[in-house]
Amino acid sequence: MVTRLASNLPRISPSLAAGNLMRLEDEIKALEEAGADALHFDVMDGHFVPLLTIGVPILEQTRQLTRLHLDVHIMVTNPDSVALHYLTAGADTLTFPIETAVHAMRLIDQIHEFGKLAGVAINPGTPWQATTAILRVIDKVTVMGVNPGFSRQKHIAGTCQTVAELTKHCLEQNYNHLCIQVDGGVGPENISQLYDAGARDFVAGGAVFKGTCSAEAYGKSINELRSRCLPK
Ligand code: DX5
Ligand code: ZN
Repeated sequence: MVTRLASNLPRISPSLAAGNLMRLEDEIKALEEAGADALHFDVMDGHFVPLLTIGVPILEQTRQLTRLHLDVHIMVTNPDSVALHYLTAGADTLTFPIETAVHAMRLIDQIHEFGKLAGVAINPGTPWQATTAILRVIDKVTVMGVNPGFSRQKHIAGTCQTVAELTKHCLEQNYNHLCIQVDGGVGPENISQLYDAGARDFVAGGAVFKGTCSAEAYGKSINELRSRCLPK
């Protein structure tokens, strides 16, 4: 399900937590109809990041509602101890912060033993080299384009450089299985540079949810983001 690094196809993964949380079922159906490639499911614990969002019970119910790929991003201080709950609840990809995982390699093994894809997220202040030892075994690296915790923040300019360096390294090492995702502040104004730098999966909160819950409006935003990645 995760795009290979070598693929040219951009994937757009709307971040559900940026939508209308009082109308989650309608939001999910609208995103399906709009042609989203995955649902990005942001979990916040009030410690690693200040706020709380949605968690295991909502994930279980989301799983019942949709066949879309569930890209679960746990922004938590204790990924090692909570991962299994999210896998059992229906995550297709489970992404954890490199900054808080105690036994990253064991966690990746646990996710793979469960038959799911493993992702690691890196904060803007963390050098991508922190992932060097696990790139060989991981399915996705999520380069944060903002300091995690809130939707609709300003994209941090250095993100593109991080993506370019990571892509170069992965190509040199023949890590062709790996997908680079960018999460945070992605929009029509920066997606093509990020795509050119090697990212192939884009989380979109504010760039998709702009007020009305409508498959047509979401489809338009998703298609616009995709079209910016097409060869010039
Ligand atoms: C950042 C979250 C993101 C974010 C995306 O804390 O992990 O998924 O909500 O929202 P936008 O695209 O609005 O930055
Ligand atoms: Zn996220």
